Amino acid sequence: MPKQDQMIVGLDIGTSKIACVVAEVSMDGRLDVIGIGTHASRGLRKGVVVDIESTVESIRLAVEEAELMAGVEIKKVHVGIAGSHIRGHNTTGIIATRHGEVTAEDVQRVIENGSAMKLPDDRTFLHVMPQEYSIDDQDGIREPIGMSGVRLQAKIHLVTAAISSAHNIRKCCKRCGLEVSELVLEQVASSCAVLLQDEKDIGVVLVDIGGGTTDIAVFLDGAIQYTSVIPIGGDHLTNDLVVGLRTSAREADELKRKHGSCMLSDVGEHEEVQVPSVGGRDPRPMPRHIMAQILQPRVEELFDLITEELQCSGYHELVAAGIVLTGGCSLLSGMETLAEETFDMPVRIGTPQNVGGLADVVNSPAYATAVGLIQYSTDHHPVANRVRQRDPVVSSQPLWQRMRNWFGDAS
Ligand SMILES: Nc1ncnc2c1ncn2[C@@H]1O[C@H](COP(=O)(O)OP(=O)(O)OP(=O)(O)O)[C@@H](O)[C@H]1O
Ligand SMILES: [Mg+2]
Repeated sequence: MPKQDQMIVGLDIGTSKIACVVAEVSMDGRLDVIGIGTHASRGLRKGVVVDIESTVESIRLAVEEAELMAGVEIKKVHVGIAGSHIRGHNTTGIIATRHGEVTAEDVQRVIENGSAMKLPDDRTFLHVMPQEYSIDDQDGIREPIGMSGVRLQAKIHLVTAAISSAHNIRKCCKRCGLEVSELVLEQVASSCAVLLQDEKDIGVVLVDIGGGTTDIAVFLDGAIQYTSVIPIGGDHLTNDLVVGLRTSAREADELKRKHGSCMLSDVGEHEEVQVPSVGGRDPRPMPRHIMAQILQPRVEELFDLITEELQCSGYHELVAAGIVLTGGCSLLSGMETLAEETFDMPVRIGTPQNVGGLADVVNSPAYATAVGLIQYSTDHHPVANRVRQRDPVVSSQPLWQRMRNWFGDAS
């Protein structure tokens, strides 16, 4: 059985499903998935908890399933957060170095300088992510420590969240007996699971289309440049089918997964699907292209909103690696083709990479956030550090964690 400090648990509290993934992490950083639990999510709307009791129940069931499979007791979890309350900003910090050479302390000070802003009382910092540093007139530096210079500048991406939303997530976890190790923006987590370093270097847009939200993150020069959340996801497609096909939400979701397509031109004229009726009436045959006629405009509308976001980000022309679609809704038939046509960029569907163990079970875009939470945690708190943290003399907390402590954690 893995020890608690060799085990990492990602808990994705999504609008459609709660996914709990347990991984064992070896000293060299390799991750083996040893347990997975999923349960339909009942208490969220558009990525935000709106019903604590139902959310607690769904989390409990997903966590119990993962515990049974992994044969461990789960105490701490890394949890995703999303919703339209999330805001991303870019800022700059500038300081004079103390010794003519950049030290770790200078880096802390410049980040502190760049993020020193008064937030409204109802908001909290979620992430403080350095993008790049400049020393004197030299810019584009990723690792400044040890370099000579007198003026250190840092470009920083800050992500803030509504305190109430962060509190509600923590409250739900606490009610299930779980301690939240950290809250991570969902697209930041998903990006750890599905993006390649090369893509982040040359510019890429991660688009995680879930049930209630579409989460966007733009990467360039290896760093996150822009984040935003659109409060539309796969559930909107399901609702359109409920109205258009006159069937229940459960049946509409099932039909969408099995027979839905957002490329009308891919659907044969004579293909038929059986649509279950409500009120005990017999199922009705319906041409499959009617579903595509409903789904395609809705997906196009979502893609238009994504284009607007990219234009507003200023990175629209700079993402040479194009778009990586992930999240459960990216599995809708025709998504990749329609996205390529609409955005006029390379598009691929991203599934979680670089995990072993039960990798086959989590090999779906729907698990990008849950697996990414684990990878985010190992990237930011390597196992060697976890073991060292027990030694009170060594401060092994990574810089960003210390930053969050200075500014007040999302708790
Ligand atoms: N094979 C499929 N084809 C089409 N749609 C699918 C498929 N599988 C899942 N979906 C849709 O994906 C959505 C759920 O995606 P996901 O599991 O990523 O959401 P979530 O993480 O719970 O939600 P969010 O991130 O928005 O809070 C649902 O609308 C579901 O109908
Ligand atoms: Mg999600």
